[in-house]
Amino acid sequence: MLPALIAAGLTGAVLAAPVRYDVPEPTAQFRAPKDTAHQAGFEAAQGNCQTCHSVDYIATQPPGKGKAFWEAEVSKMIKIYHAPIDEADGRAIATYLSDTY
Ligand code: HEC
Repeated sequence: MLPALIAAGLTGAVLAAPVRYDVPEPTAQFRAPKDTAHQAGFEAAQGNCQTCHSVDYIATQPPGKGKAFWEAEVSKMIKIYHAPIDEADGRAIATYLSDTY
């Protein structure tokens, strides 16, 4: 009796229909860099700053927060949340963000 129930349970799990769902469209994109000097930071932000959360987290910050704020944000993402971003990319991202947002 018991083995039959277990077998039935396993079969049920194996035959369960695959779950399908649509991933929502990204809600925000990084703003274009204002000049070529900010291109590297823009690309590094695209590559590193939307793996854990959407760009909305950045786009919804109050405008004009400045360099110190964005340096602290990037540093927090690396030190507290363990974002694997190297120092040079982190600096370029902070410069791009502070000059663009
Ligand atoms: C390893 C995961 C991870 C990566 C990568 C990451 N973040 Fe975050 N970020 C978080 C978490 C976790 C929060 C806090 C979420 C919450 O409180 O709901 C957060 C929140 C934020 C916020 C909201 C304000 C705050 O401090 O909570 C901003 C702005 C932000 N991240 C910017 C960035 C930028 C810029 C990058 C790229 C340098 C980045 N994030 C990359 C994990 C990450």
